Amino acid sequence: MIKRFDFSPIIRTGAVVRDLPYTDGMPAPFILKDNSFVLQMDDKTRVYGLGETMRGINKRGWIYESFCTDEPFHTEEKRSVYGAHNFLIIDGEERFGAFFDIPGKITFDIGYTDSDTITITPEKFALDLYIITADSLKAIVGEFRALIGKSYIPPKWAFGYGQSRWGYVTEEDIQKCADSYRDAGIPLDMLYLDIDYMDSFKDFTVHPERFPDLKAFSAKMKERGVRLIPIIDAAVKKEEGYSVYDEGHEKGYFCKDENGEDFVVGVWPGKSLLPDFLNPEAAAWFGKKYKALTDLGIEGFWNDMNEPALFYSERGFNNAAEQIKNLGSARLDALSFFGVRDTLAKLQNNPDDYKSFYHNTPEGKINHYDVHNLYGYHMTKSAYDALCELRDEPSLLFSRASYIGAHRCGGIWTGDNHSWWSHILQSLQQMPGLNMCGFLYSGSDIGGFNGNCTRDLLIRWLSFALFTPLMRNHAAFGTRSQEAFAFGDTEVFRHIITLRYRLIPYLYSEFVKAVENDAMYFRPLSFDYESDETAATVEDQLMVGDSLMIAPVYVQNTVSRHIYLPEKMTMIRMHEGDISTEELSQGRHNVSVPLGDVVFFAKSPIPFAKPAMNTTELDWENLEQLGVR
Ligand code: NOJ
Repeated sequence: MIKRFDFSPIIRTGAVVRDLPYTDGMPAPFILKDNSFVLQMDDKTRVYGLGETMRGINKRGWIYESFCTDEPFHTEEKRSVYGAHNFLIIDGEERFGAFFDIPGKITFDIGYTDSDTITITPEKFALDLYIITADSLKAIVGEFRALIGKSYIPPKWAFGYGQSRWGYVTEEDIQKCADSYRDAGIPLDMLYLDIDYMDSFKDFTVHPERFPDLKAFSAKMKERGVRLIPIIDAAVKKEEGYSVYDEGHEKGYFCKDENGEDFVVGVWPGKSLLPDFLNPEAAAWFGKKYKALTDLGIEGFWNDMNEPALFYSERGFNNAAEQIKNLGSARLDALSFFGVRDTLAKLQNNPDDYKSFYHNTPEGKINHYDVHNLYGYHMTKSAYDALCELRDEPSLLFSRASYIGAHRCGGIWTGDNHSWWSHILQSLQQMPGLNMCGFLYSGSDIGGFNGNCTRDLLIRWLSFALFTPLMRNHAAFGTRSQEAFAFGDTEVFRHIITLRYRLIPYLYSEFVKAVENDAMYFRPLSFDYESDETAATVEDQLMVGDSLMIAPVYVQNTVSRHIYLPEKMTMIRMHEGDISTEELSQGRHNVSVPLGDVVFFAKSPIPFAKPAMNTTELDWENLEQLGVR
């Protein structure tokens, strides 16, 4: 049962697809106290959800702020990252789901200030609240997902393996990467183009020297079963003569300051403007621009920097410059130096900037800050709507920033993580929360985006990520190479990535089933074994589809790990490409997992394909069975 409570929302966010009547009275079990929703927890209460956030599967014991943020350091103390996903399930004396549909900032204090209290505080008390009850955790998710509409299903080939790197600059770089994968016999379906393919970082342009004939090149790659997936950034370069700027400026499609002038920000192209994705006409206009690339044979995109990320605003930068100038001949003592440093640091993603521009929405002029969390969603929607028109086939689309609602249009990747062991676990722990909120096509940058990856880290990361719908290796500019061929010996990588391809028929069909049934592809153990108290405390294993359970290794120099089996299962081991199985009883086990072995668990047999070099070559018909008891 879903009850909807009216707290005068300022705008319909577009998150839900059903228009439920409002319920009178208080949103029990919450009580309202000082403009917060408050609930007491007993010792056993667990809290799930909140989508893309830091920390564990059980969200208890921290404070989370929903405010889409370009956060390059995913450390434990962070309260916000790129997504704003305000749905949680409280599994305590009373068990229910709650969705706080609000386009601005909201804070979820889940036993942080007071370990027994949940305090949820919207910055502006203007929202719709949905309280959902049902007789199981899965059923609560099912009700919520029916409320927000079916999740995006990517093309089948998007379940292949993808290689990305900010630093492939030319066609030769991409060609070399594709050749290295082929020479090593490692399957590959996608190569990603980061910002360097563009001409001066201008959206919908192609650098004339670096990619002299992208159409011919993408066709050549596709012949080998590899698709090119370019990035599109939110901000548009301010440059007269660049048609996207000229048209957008003339038609008033960019976000405006309080005087109605285009609000100028700094992102990769330098001075840039923010398309007003909350203006449906502007969104439709921007979406049509993807045609420049679909005309070249491009079948998928990743949308970036759409929190929106701002390196600076023109006015912030000018103020900072003035401040520094005014220091003039004053003695530059330590305090003034730190002052200058802070002023410069605060230029990036400054809340004052978010408060200084406006959207022209169907509901009227709205300050960006109040609807900040919808920006990335509406960018994804603009691309999705356009791609449905432009192409007959489904397109690959995923985004960095998101709000619930965007899950109907595309997937998300979890942004700029690090080549840290803890980020394998972090990625695993994010998956069920994302699935609860509708984001099923998701994954992290395998090997880590920032920092330098090592061979063992990549092996372990791939061994987990081969189960994530989005399986993409991506790294930052200037970091050590971390392709599956970069560490000399390629055999071990070939075996792991080949295993992914052999599992694709299972993974894809479980994914589609989860979408169609409003279910979760990744689930915490407690969702499947509700009365099992041990299962409820497991933070590093997940159910994948109906039949599998995974328990990856995420600690360096470890060759075994503890595993909890809530019931008898078949342990499946891939060792140097060979598969073996062993029956394990219910309970705790210590399982040996040498580097390069992949170990996972089956409740029931699953289909298993023959090895293939890409999804086009994959034989979806003649399947074996794996995990037969
Ligand atoms: C930030 C994105 O998160 C990252 O994946 C990308 O490589 C850089 N922007 C450069 O485009």
